[in-house]
Amino acid sequence: MEVKRLEGDLRTSDIDVCGVLLFEGDTKLLSKLGRGVSSRVRKVLETIDFKGKEGQLERITLPGQRFGVVYLVGLGKREKAQPDTFRRASGLFVKRLKKDKIERAVLISPRVENPTISQAIAEGLILGSYTFDRYKSKKENSHEVKEVLIWRGEEEAIKKGKILAEAQNYVRDLVNEPGNVINPITLAEEAKRLAEELGLECKIYDEKEIQKMGMLALWSVGKGSATPPRFIHLTYRPKGKPKDRIVIVGKGLTFDSGGLNIKPENYMRTMKMDKSGACAVLGVMRVVAKMKPNIEVHGIVGAAENMPSGSAYRPDDIIRAKNGKYIEIDNTDAEGRVTLADALSYASELKPSKIIDLATLTGACMVALGEYTAGLFTNNREFAEEIKKIAKKTGERVWELPMDDEQLRKKIKKGPADVVNTGGRYGGAITAAMFLEEFVGEGIKWVHLDIAGPAWAREEYGYHPQGGTGFGVRTCAEYILSLDGR
Ligand code: BES
Ligand code: MN
Ligand code: ZN
Repeated sequence: MEVKRLEGDLRTSDIDVCGVLLFEGDTKLLSKLGRGVSSRVRKVLETIDFKGKEGQLERITLPGQRFGVVYLVGLGKREKAQPDTFRRASGLFVKRLKKDKIERAVLISPRVENPTISQAIAEGLILGSYTFDRYKSKKENSHEVKEVLIWRGEEEAIKKGKILAEAQNYVRDLVNEPGNVINPITLAEEAKRLAEELGLECKIYDEKEIQKMGMLALWSVGKGSATPPRFIHLTYRPKGKPKDRIVIVGKGLTFDSGGLNIKPENYMRTMKMDKSGACAVLGVMRVVAKMKPNIEVHGIVGAAENMPSGSAYRPDDIIRAKNGKYIEIDNTDAEGRVTLADALSYASELKPSKIIDLATLTGACMVALGEYTAGLFTNNREFAEEIKKIAKKTGERVWELPMDDEQLRKKIKKGPADVVNTGGRYGGAITAAMFLEEFVGEGIKWVHLDIAGPAWAREEYGYHPQGGTGFGVRTCAEYILSLDGR
């Protein structure tokens, strides 16, 4: 879908469908539609129940007028509006255009002169128009909206929003692919293809190299599967001397059956989404390659499939991770943190100033925060506050959980090895984060996002259809861009 700015006079465009985003109880913007259309719309408004509440949408037909169809979309109360309010309203609008099989439309909104709002609208349009229909033989519900013009939107902001939202849709596609299509080998191939397309460096390590490099934790998790693990390292290097170096790490379980501690059936379903962190890393690298900030960025993924078999790793196994620490396996279903032990060790050896990891790590995080919010964990206050500030703008909900409970930390320090891979039922998201912290190098600022909830939409909401959401891409990418003042 094309999203562009429409300059100057509304009459210069020949498009006859128009959307108007309206704050609750405020119809001033309607006057922009011209005298004929606006007075007709106001007439209709007297007869219908449209208040401009968030989620409200009305279609008004005006035969013979400059705009034959006008959609009114509610933004809710002016004082409560956030950037994501505009993203959600634009998403709702475009979903309706799709349903009504409309190809081109103009969109009018308050606050478009603000770049953040223009960008949010562009993102909402592109995110809202997404469907995963690759495997539908008849594409009945897949009408494509060709073009939406944002009246007086900020050109650069719209372009940026397009790049970010298209990257997020790319991530959704990857997450939605099942385990028989995306496995560690094909995920690595996709990383390679992306790198070639965008001019990134790409190094893939196979199962032999993974062992040789001492990444026995990743290797152990992957060895129960017929498809061996892969380690993916993508690099973006700017032309000039970089201002900073940052690593993004993603959990890449292409399927998580639980392994020998096999999941009950209701819990195994949707575990193709356990690669969401990895896919988000590819999405971030895509944004970075297109936006070209003056920052060195590494994308790291340990890809594996967690399966039960005669060659699977077991409870009681003791494994040496890349940084030399020994891990005792209590439960093979706590596999993500085991793969991340090596990925974080490798990332630390790159000597970045900061690491962000994205991982569908624990069901416990969903119990704590609900399914729409990511858990945020850190070893550095300022870094955490910066990510939270960016997340406010992107609308990706994050909430910090504490890392200072030294009594709780003891639960992962039990047993015969340096660490054990579970800390019991209580505080499960926190003990998982504390486990990861063991593998982050001295002096490196680190933020861990547990995206188990928001990476997957069990049913559609906001601008997300059911399925993979692409959560985390925009927050990480925007953070990197912000390091270069963009
Ligand atoms: N991939 C799961 C976490 C998960 C659960 C993600 C639900 C998305 C939705 C992870 O590997 C896992 O199985 N975690 C266990 C850990 C436990 C065995 C300590 C969990 O959360 O139950
Ligand atoms: Mn698991
Ligand atoms: Zn998992």
